[in-house]
Amino acid sequence: MAVVYDPEHGLFTLKTKDTDYQMKVDELGYLLHLYYGSRTDQNMDYRLTFLDRGFSGNPAEKHLDKTYSLDTLPQEYPFKGTGDYRGIAFKMENADGAVSCDLRYLRHEIRDGKYSLNRLPSARGERTDYNGVSGGASAANVQTLVIVLADAVSGVEVELYYSVYEAENVITRAAKIRNGGADRVVIRRALSCCLDSLSGSYDLVHFHGRHTYEMQRERTPVGHAAVTIGSRRGTSSHQHNPAVILADHNATEESGAVTGCILSFSGSFLCEAEKDQFEQTRFLIGMNDEQLAYPLMPGEELEAPECILSYTKQGFRDLSLRFHDFLRAYVIRDPYGRKPHPVLINSWEAAYFDFDGETIVHLAEEAKDLGMDMVVMDDGWFGQRNDDLRALGDWTPNEEKLGCSLGELIRRIEEKGLKFGIWIEPEMVNEDSDLYRAHPDWALKVPGKAPVYARNQLVLDFSRKEVRDSIFNNIAKVLDQGHVSYVKWDMNRSVADVYSLEHVPGKVRYEYVAGVYAFLKALTERYPELIIEGCSGGGGRFDAGMLHYEPQIWASDNSDACDRVMIQYGLSYFYPSSTVGAHVSAVPNHQTGRITPLSTRGITAMAGTFGYELDPAKLTKEERDEIRTQIRDYKRFESLVREGDYYRLSDPFTDGISAWAFVSPDRCTALISYVCLENHGNMDVKYIRAAGLDPEQRYAVEAEGNILSGAALMEAGLPVLPPLMDYKAGQILLKAVGET
Ligand code: GLA
Repeated sequence: MAVVYDPEHGLFTLKTKDTDYQMKVDELGYLLHLYYGSRTDQNMDYRLTFLDRGFSGNPAEKHLDKTYSLDTLPQEYPFKGTGDYRGIAFKMENADGAVSCDLRYLRHEIRDGKYSLNRLPSARGERTDYNGVSGGASAANVQTLVIVLADAVSGVEVELYYSVYEAENVITRAAKIRNGGADRVVIRRALSCCLDSLSGSYDLVHFHGRHTYEMQRERTPVGHAAVTIGSRRGTSSHQHNPAVILADHNATEESGAVTGCILSFSGSFLCEAEKDQFEQTRFLIGMNDEQLAYPLMPGEELEAPECILSYTKQGFRDLSLRFHDFLRAYVIRDPYGRKPHPVLINSWEAAYFDFDGETIVHLAEEAKDLGMDMVVMDDGWFGQRNDDLRALGDWTPNEEKLGCSLGELIRRIEEKGLKFGIWIEPEMVNEDSDLYRAHPDWALKVPGKAPVYARNQLVLDFSRKEVRDSIFNNIAKVLDQGHVSYVKWDMNRSVADVYSLEHVPGKVRYEYVAGVYAFLKALTERYPELIIEGCSGGGGRFDAGMLHYEPQIWASDNSDACDRVMIQYGLSYFYPSSTVGAHVSAVPNHQTGRITPLSTRGITAMAGTFGYELDPAKLTKEERDEIRTQIRDYKRFESLVREGDYYRLSDPFTDGISAWAFVSPDRCTALISYVCLENHGNMDVKYIRAAGLDPEQRYAVEAEGNILSGAALMEAGLPVLPPLMDYKAGQILLKAVGET
């Protein structure tokens, strides 16, 4: 049983293979958090202490017992109103304006299978293996616990959802707030998860960045000054990723206790960790409440997004392996399943806006010649879109520019033997567009105030169904013109003006994100085979919410190999390589001016969904030959990248080399890749220690002809000689040989 209820002690234990997560309903009906860690098979309430603590108030039933205070007890879903002065998960305004509530246990339910959310994405209950096979024995592995807390005065109920994936060592959480009373209330905060720890000292490992430099790891000790990260941009953002790790101070890649949390939400988020006055740590994560004031009329409900939790005491590596497995098996919708993902060429860095139909056909011819599978026509194919100042919203192919209809262009590309993909940015509008001229009120704008522009564009009010439906129909007309295999869905600015003609301002941010999900859901239902690659100026919306609809996301507008290994390293803590859009581009790199060898760019892009973003006409014969080899190599390794286990083998921030490996599930094949980030005179030899191999198995080291034991490869490592050139990269293929 994954969910165990002990009625005598009011104890709920969520059991995975290696972990216990425990809560208790106490004598007053408060839901206390007892434990999240390795299996103990123990009632952990012995750890609760009751002491008279000054200035920590007591609930009415205990007003003569100064030792009971919700200001000091660990809680599962702390809320404003009971004298808990730490950060809280839930805050509500009553009809009379009072910001207060008192949530007590009402009932619970344990059931097989997974809960689901109505308006926000949530993980599946059935496993889809990476090779596309659904269901199977592990379907019964998931159990759900719903605990309902209620506020007697307002009638508001908070349903806390937990699904336990026993074999995967993962627990998902979400919440639904329902107004079961007679009066309107306003929800001012509804986070997804609180984790209280009675003891221990932690670091928050989080990933910050900026446009073209996302996912830079930072490890911040959690002390009495709160560590707060998040986004106020309406998207999960380049600046902070909504996936974090609470790690023991001494946790490393291979050892130490770490709790990871991935928030499946694509809007503004908030994450906070803080030590309280008694050295207890509180961790909170969920949607950002800064502009949230969500009214709930009687009978209405609000969903708080899902988060995905896992705990291990075997360090970051084990945590990442679990998250990769979980996202691939239960979250990512991959229409390609078993099929290799197409190797694409994208027109953006090849031509920017400066193309016509012939350019795209020519790109297709070149791509075919080099062994690629798909050509993607990026921005610039619609309306009067010849620069980034106008025409967003006018989703009508510019036939004059293309020289033919889109359908005809697609047919010409198919005749060359290539698939076709196209760029869209559905959430946006330029003032200089037919759409805006017809519907100026469809953009998010605050009345009487000039809007905030970014890239000269405004954000469409996707909280309104009418707006979404109109854009959907226009985009569907485009996609219906021919066989479109792939769409790159972009979102090139942050949301600033939060005002809608349909919703009160406090609802807009939430309704916007729910609207984007509704659009994506409709799109995937209408075009089930379509691959949607997410993008928001690169990695501005790289999150698990999007992965429900977009199996891959363009990781960064920065395609420089050296910066990319850092960005991809950051992503690897949570997101599997199959989700990471990665392309080989020209040098000098358009974002950094850096010159890296073609082989380095190829090896770096092979740690993701491989493709090219350059003009083949500018390549030398040698480069063309090298690209043909790269594509052959990628196709050879594609299933290893998509289905294999990913291991970080170095820390590029400190080691001067970035190294990683893909290991096949049967541990018979491993591909080690590395990029040398440093080059000095008379340099030291770097040793790369493999991981994930069978220690007793012997492996042939391709090209070198050595046969070495898995143990030697993992314990002592392989030498990498000083590079004698900048940014040298290499790949080492290991193949198990017959005997063990
Ligand atoms: C964003 C994307 C780029 C490209 C441009 C087109 O910046 O991240 O890859 O598609 O938009 O305008």
